[in-house]
Amino acid sequence: MHGLRRLEYRGYDSAGLAIADGGELVLRREVGKLNNLEEGLKRAPLTGNVGIGHTRWATHGRPTAFNAHPHTDCSGQIVVVHNGIIENYLDLKRELSDAGHRFESDTDTEVLAHLVESLYAGDLFAAVLAAYRRIEGTFATVFMHRDEPGKVVGLRHGAPLVAGLGSEEHFLASDVTAILDYTRQVVYLDDGEVVVVSKEGVRVFDHEGLPKVKEVHRIDWNPAAAEKAGYEHFMLKEIFEQPSSLTNTLGGRLDEREGRVFLGDLGLSEAELRSIDRIVIVACGTAYYAGLVGKYMIERLSRLPVEVDFASEFRYRDPVITDRTLAIAISQSGETADTLAALRECRRLGAKTLGIINAIGSTMSREVDGVLSLQSGPEISVASTKAYTSMVAALLLLATHLGQVREELADAVVAGLINDMKRLPGLVKQTLETADEVQALAETFALSQHFLFLGRGINFPTAMEGALKLKEISYIHAEAYAAGEMKHGPIALINEAMPVLALATRSSTYDKVISNLQEAKSRKGAARGTVIAIATEGDRAITAHVDRVIYVPGCSELVSPVINVVPLQLLAYYTARILGKDIDQPRNLAKSVTVE
Ligand code: AGP
Repeated sequence: MHGLRRLEYRGYDSAGLAIADGGELVLRREVGKLNNLEEGLKRAPLTGNVGIGHTRWATHGRPTAFNAHPHTDCSGQIVVVHNGIIENYLDLKRELSDAGHRFESDTDTEVLAHLVESLYAGDLFAAVLAAYRRIEGTFATVFMHRDEPGKVVGLRHGAPLVAGLGSEEHFLASDVTAILDYTRQVVYLDDGEVVVVSKEGVRVFDHEGLPKVKEVHRIDWNPAAAEKAGYEHFMLKEIFEQPSSLTNTLGGRLDEREGRVFLGDLGLSEAELRSIDRIVIVACGTAYYAGLVGKYMIERLSRLPVEVDFASEFRYRDPVITDRTLAIAISQSGETADTLAALRECRRLGAKTLGIINAIGSTMSREVDGVLSLQSGPEISVASTKAYTSMVAALLLLATHLGQVREELADAVVAGLINDMKRLPGLVKQTLETADEVQALAETFALSQHFLFLGRGINFPTAMEGALKLKEISYIHAEAYAAGEMKHGPIALINEAMPVLALATRSSTYDKVISNLQEAKSRKGAARGTVIAIATEGDRAITAHVDRVIYVPGCSELVSPVINVVPLQLLAYYTARILGKDIDQPRNLAKSVTVE
């Protein structure tokens, strides 16, 4: 329980544990806060010194006691907890059900218990090893078997798993924070490794079952630092988590073999999706900018008209909504009062509703017809980063799905989109390598009083998001403008004290952006502002038009907002850090604005 408490900062909506107690494996699971589980244990205590526990951040299946981990096989002799996404869980569930296995939950995790059960022949380690060959996705998972009570077997693939070496006791955890109070000697497991923890100690094997020697690390972090995984701020940790959070957002939803996206329980049938004649997106702040990117994607791919509105404005403009409108609410917290109010107005007027939400179990997730969950894990820093890129990725999934269902997309186009989305986490990882260059930019411009962000087309919202990031954590006045609009007035603003940052990656409007930059550069004397460009690697021509360039990897225009925003997130972060601002908790801001 203490270890689970240490993980509370990651957020959760249910919790559970299983203890080997007198020859039995006893299971306890509760929805809601850890206190509920703790109260249950006080009422009916358990004894035993080997067990597994879990706090759940719902991805597949809403937060309920029977969806909480640990999950068991048919016999109740095997228990499992799991972090990550089992991408092929539907295939495995069909195969195991056909073989007579009975499932009680709608989670992907439960498949693991039944798979190991189907492979168990008296040796849990061997069964887990055999199961590993059948599972696709990202997972850190831990098993126990009633007949092997002194043993815990763990498997790591794509999600973190660490072993703690105590004096009289040993541990496995998805996050070192959970075990720092008991030991500072840890072994980090790598993908494909299986670990067996017992009285004899901690033994690690490769995916063929051959023993591996692992380095033991001593952790000097205090628990607070451990929650940031060694990063100075949650914001920087969450910026660098984006390759894995995007993997989780897209995980299990890109079906390359079938050439389609799989969005699970959207709460809306394909017939309903075909009957829609218009989409309205309501959101606030960063989520609103994601919605603007979504407009370009959905209109391009599904030919459905899309309106995007600040939620706080929407309900006061007497909006035109019918029962053929799909209202999409985008929200990381699922608790934003303005967005909730706009969503309720849409429902009142008869619209179908969909939530693109990170916090499952939130108020909003319970009021919409369907949820497309971000699955990006808890976002702690007030300034939204990984949730934003997950929102944009989720909108691209939705746009592709709508395009397919409405028969607007050729198979080849869908295959291209799926390939683009599969490559996204790797492209973001590559873009994060610009961090040092961006930090140097921040050092040059940290004392600017004003900053102008220019973008066009699908990257105009990227410029807006970049301006918001800089505003909200460094308190520098920053504004975003459509690059083509500058000549209609704002260009008079430019002077040498106002850096201009332009999104100038390869796109259908690249030449237009270049001429907009030339307008900004052609000013004389004091009106000659410094121009920085985010450009596509390999584009040498751009250096003739700007003063500084940050190069990002080439990608298709539709996914470029996910790549292009990363240097802007880093610019805001490093600028605020140079200025000594309270980055994770900026003045006057809250992580979730639950008041109108
Ligand atoms: C973004 O960095 C801000 N923290 C803020 O604009 C936020 O995006 C907005 O309040 C909406 O929050 P939500 O996504 O939880 O609804």
